[in-house]
Amino acid sequence: MSLRTRLVWLTGSWILIILIFFNIFIYYYTFKKTTSEEDRLLWNKAQIILRNPDIHNPRNWSRPDLLQEFGAEDTLIRIIGASGRIRAQLSSNEELSAYPAVYRTGYQSTVVNDFDSRKLFIQVPIISENTGTQIGLLELGKELDFISSVLDILVTGLTITTISIILFSIIAAVFYTRVIIRPLRQLLETMRAIRSSGDFVLLDPKYTSKKDELGRLGQTFNEMILFLQDTDQKQKQFVADASHELRTPLTVIESYASLLKRWGGNDPAVREEAIEAIHSESARLKSLITSLLKLAEVEREELMNCSDVELIPLVKQAAEQMEHAFQRQIELFCPDEEERPIVLCADREKLKQLLIILIDNAFKYSKEPVKIDISRVRHHVQLQIIDRGMGIPKDELPHLFERFYRVDKARGRGTGGTGLGLSIAKQIVTQHRGTIHIDSKIGVGTTVTIGFQQQK
Ligand SMILES: Nc1ncnc2c1ncn2[C@@H]1O[C@H](COP(=O)(O)OP(=O)(O)OP(=O)(O)O)[C@@H](O)[C@H]1O
Ligand SMILES: [Mg+2]
Repeated sequence: MSLRTRLVWLTGSWILIILIFFNIFIYYYTFKKTTSEEDRLLWNKAQIILRNPDIHNPRNWSRPDLLQEFGAEDTLIRIIGASGRIRAQLSSNEELSAYPAVYRTGYQSTVVNDFDSRKLFIQVPIISENTGTQIGLLELGKELDFISSVLDILVTGLTITTISIILFSIIAAVFYTRVIIRPLRQLLETMRAIRSSGDFVLLDPKYTSKKDELGRLGQTFNEMILFLQDTDQKQKQFVADASHELRTPLTVIESYASLLKRWGGNDPAVREEAIEAIHSESARLKSLITSLLKLAEVEREELMNCSDVELIPLVKQAAEQMEHAFQRQIELFCPDEEERPIVLCADREKLKQLLIILIDNAFKYSKEPVKIDISRVRHHVQLQIIDRGMGIPKDELPHLFERFYRVDKARGRGTGGTGLGLSIAKQIVTQHRGTIHIDSKIGVGTTVTIGFQQQK
């Protein structure tokens, strides 16, 4: 059963149950109210009859005029003797007279429901004036024609109202479930379309513009699709860029190898050049693959191995290593670590790798000594790597963290870069919930600023 049918059914059944309950209540309430009024009138009449002293003497019961004055239309008045025999009766209605006479002690009021009519009977004991004991029973009966017709009208009215309400509510339910279900159907169809075509399809804006839950469902779906599309796009771009980057050195190697194969082997100059080129391109290929592996590794967040890391000794260690490797100089400015060490909750190895990537850039793209500045503002730690090198054009700054991005390819190639360093750095900073920002001016230098939250 579809969701829509189920909702319509549910609404219909629920309203039907409520209506049945209320109809029964209204019917019985009206019935009780109207019958109790008739009941009261009969009791009053019985009291009036019993006020006649002749009634209390059985010898008068056979007098034909005894009950005459109390006669009324559609009413039965009779006296039942202690033997159960009818001793006196006044009735203009045969159906009422046909009601079996039963002698009872005590008061009673009974409603008799026949197929097409209702009758009310009351019985009142007749007490002897002399002995004070019950000597007979006064029975009054009345045809409840008016009440029956009122109840018939009521039943007809209630039936018509019930059927109309059920019909209207089913029509309303069909309509509003369509409104509710439509966005869900659309969502389902869009998902099917995505599965069958493999394309990223967005939901129509009319299903995402509403501020209700369904609107938000649509918005979230579209956001998810855009995110997947973006990820897919980046993935494709990455594969394309990586293949391209890997192909370039391989093409150089292949062409030099062919050169050697054909005739370079005999010419020492060509041989020397080919070997040199093959060697440098192989080294480049190796560094490219190493960077790619590093990138894949840092992207795996579960490999984060966090612990309390003292920042200043780590920076000193990385700086010293780089100074030795590049035979260059680094000037370090930092607060007195003895006084209050700067402790970060971080992955030590990744943090060191981040420093090496940034120092490597500063060395590669400048000639003068590099400056590292560490400062602390409350719980924030700021680390700056400053060089006075060639700088980066302003319009290139937003792209620096993209994979394989190099500011003017010739410069990158000349210094052997792969363009992956900063994207790895960005990954590491993001994983540590930090921030990274690059300021640069052509011919003046570059400042990379990293911000971290300090461990309390
Ligand atoms: N300190 C800097 N001064 C000038 N240019 C820089 C600096 N740091 C980065 N760049 C520019 O940004 C580009 C991207 O840097 P990134 O570190 O990502 O790649 P790379 O240095 O070329 O290669 P590698 O992957 O080996 O680090 C570099 O090619 C370079 O042009
Ligand atoms: Mg670099």
